[in-house]
Amino acid sequence: MKPVSNNTPEWMLASLQERRQQDLMRRPVVLDSPQRPNARINGQEYKAFCSNDYLGLANHPALVDAMHEGALQYGVGGGASHLVCGHLKPHQQLEEALADWLGYDRVMLFSTGYMANLGVLSALAGKQRPIIQDKLNHASLIDGALLAQAPLRRYLHGDVASAEKLLSKSPEAGLLVTDGVFSMDGDLAPLADLSRLASDHSWMFMVDDAHGLGCMGENGKGSLSLTGLNSTSLPILVGTFGKAFGTSGAFVATSHDYADYLTQFARPYIYTTSMSPAMACATLASLQIIQSDEGQERRDKLARHIQYFRRRMQALPIRLMPSDTAIQPIIIGDNRLTLEISERLRQLGIWCTAIRPPTVPVGSARLRITLSADHSDGDLVLLCDSLEQILTSEE
Ligand SMILES: Cc1ncc(COP(=O)(O)O)c(C=O)c1O
Repeated sequence: MKPVSNNTPEWMLASLQERRQQDLMRRPVVLDSPQRPNARINGQEYKAFCSNDYLGLANHPALVDAMHEGALQYGVGGGASHLVCGHLKPHQQLEEALADWLGYDRVMLFSTGYMANLGVLSALAGKQRPIIQDKLNHASLIDGALLAQAPLRRYLHGDVASAEKLLSKSPEAGLLVTDGVFSMDGDLAPLADLSRLASDHSWMFMVDDAHGLGCMGENGKGSLSLTGLNSTSLPILVGTFGKAFGTSGAFVATSHDYADYLTQFARPYIYTTSMSPAMACATLASLQIIQSDEGQERRDKLARHIQYFRRRMQALPIRLMPSDTAIQPIIIGDNRLTLEISERLRQLGIWCTAIRPPTVPVGSARLRITLSADHSDGDLVLLCDSLEQILTSEE
């Protein structure tokens, strides 16, 4: 569809045309159901395999109830930024519960993970405090470096030697930052080695564990616990609520000094309205599930789904990524072909959005298949049978 306005600048039309020609146009699909494996689109049900709701909590009755109760008691809107008058009791309770769970002095809430990363990077890095980060880190970490106006160098994905080379060459100490679980590939960063490297060079070390928290590690504590790190070896941990927690928002867990500093200097914390207090109540309910037997059962079920999926996929002529997480991408490469496979899956009743550049590097378009504890065994069989049918057909 062509843009219709006569006032549209030429550069915009040219840019849109380029995206179209490269099969890179994107637009949202309207979901007429809650976030759950049975997604309804245009009156048709599909099995969704592209949500980040890894534990199936986004539509959990306990969260819905907590949000309802929270809204009755504290209202819907935060009303102001945290530092003016928007820091309500549920925000404080959530911060304390997260700090206690993860073993940090303090936790600060942010409205989104994107803003948490912008906030932390722009406050801690700067013209004289460089950032070194993994090449495949999330876009918000790249944008955080831009906001910080900090020198930015990126090391080869997951490569500690490459990171070390960059750190050794840097005249000033700064911030080393990595995703815990890589959002588009699903693999784990070498956190213990990176932590050691940062400490040896007196650099600050930060992990964004958006896709690990809740899903893995002891009691769901994420890649931090899986790799034996703690608040000393990992002084700055970012987590988000939009994935396994099933709500929205984010946090940074850190020490008293860092938290005091971020409170003064992290602009995306200071100059924005706090998250809805009702959302904080729902997130607290989510944390309680994650910490409970039910949370463990959900993680165990997710782990069984991951194992089953990988076992089935190993028999197919595809590039499967080295991932033991809920993110199980199948790299197709070509943009058009990825769209076609996504469409063929849709015809078989499966919804998996084609992920293309610039979200992933050029030439690595993929089906970013994500699994959830809310999928049934039958859902997994349907997914694997359908992929087998499509990926082994001669067309
Ligand atoms: C690794 C990573 N960090 C941060 C974010 C941003 O979090 P949010 O969706 O809460 O803005 C995402 C994804 O959205 C992510 O994958």
